[in-house]
Amino acid sequence: MSDPLLKVENLRVEFQRSDGIVYAVNDVSFSIAPGETVGVVGESGSGKSTALMALLGLLDANGRVTGGHAWFQGADLLKLNRHQLEDIRGRDIGVVFQDPMLGLNPTMRIGDQIMEGMLEHHYASMKQAFQRTLDLLAEVGIPDPPARFRNYPFEFSGGMRQRVMIAMAIACEPQLLIADEPTTALDVTVQMQILALLDKLRRERRMSIIMITHDLGVATNFCDRIIVMYGGKIMETAPLDEFLHNPAHPYTIALFGSMLEPDDSEDWELHPIPGTAEPLLEFPQACPFAPRCSMAQPRCQTEMPQLRLFENEHWIACHRAEEVMSRAG
Ligand SMILES: Nc1ncnc2c1ncn2[C@@H]1O[C@H](COP(=O)(O)OP(=O)(O)OP(=O)(O)O)[C@@H](O)[C@H]1O
Ligand code: SF4
Ligand SMILES: [Mg+2]
Repeated sequence: MSDPLLKVENLRVEFQRSDGIVYAVNDVSFSIAPGETVGVVGESGSGKSTALMALLGLLDANGRVTGGHAWFQGADLLKLNRHQLEDIRGRDIGVVFQDPMLGLNPTMRIGDQIMEGMLEHHYASMKQAFQRTLDLLAEVGIPDPPARFRNYPFEFSGGMRQRVMIAMAIACEPQLLIADEPTTALDVTVQMQILALLDKLRRERRMSIIMITHDLGVATNFCDRIIVMYGGKIMETAPLDEFLHNPAHPYTIALFGSMLEPDDSEDWELHPIPGTAEPLLEFPQACPFAPRCSMAQPRCQTEMPQLRLFENEHWIACHRAEEVMSRAG
């Protein structure tokens, strides 16, 4: 495997709340290779956005990184100042935000917003940036770019705004795209179009993509490797084939179980995992999934399972991983 483009080591993030500290990301390590697509999955609150936004200096004001490193182009992103990070963001690392309205300025024309990033990063002259904006709008599938250039975000549908966000994120040809739920809340047809567009871009530009999604189906259709997060930790990670054939963490298996499948009446039905993912108000010393895990044992309540390496680059953080694997085999 080639040298990683991004290498995150032991990342920790906390949020200060009025009732105490939320331990949102606890010792997360992963890397991504050039041209690779990694899917980060997990239920709401598992720490997906926090882990990635922390790398880019985009945490909410009450959040802070309390440990770790994030190596990118020889620098530790976690040690850079705001100005240095702004330089990298948008130029070397593109971001598609979970909420498209967060990434778009409601009072600025769409075309000007796309041009702005290219001009700020000295990627193109005014004339080149204008032409490239028209090309990008066409590339992300927005009809009649010269007319649409002059529109404001409110004149666009959710799917169109998501496409504009992607156009902005890729305008300076970043090496890495971090896309946070880029297809959530879009109907299935638009979702498929956006995934196809991202797929085309990564093939044509050899761009690496980190796709954050709560949708295991989207991740397994689109990514080369999957990272499953829960309680601010990585529970399981493996290349796609291995992940699909040998899922071996009880949480992953519960996630697969919660995907749509036909019930007796042949209607499609969602089976939620019993219980909810609560914010961690104490530093986790035990398996965070233990309160909801059907396989939990006394040890799981007192001892943190470490990520362990199995065959085929498969990492699992569960005391009972061997049993799960042998049952499946
Ligand atoms: N600004 C904040 N203040 C306090 N707690 C926060 C803040 N932002 C996130 N959290 C908490 O941090 C944890 C991780 O949240 P995060 O948004 O990263 O999850 P996520 O996996 O991206 O979920 P979702 O699928 O809902 O986007 C959760 O417990 C959440 O409640
Ligand atoms: S360590 Fe224990 S509680 Fe956690 S997932 Fe494995 S079996 Fe379940
Ligand atoms: Mg999120």
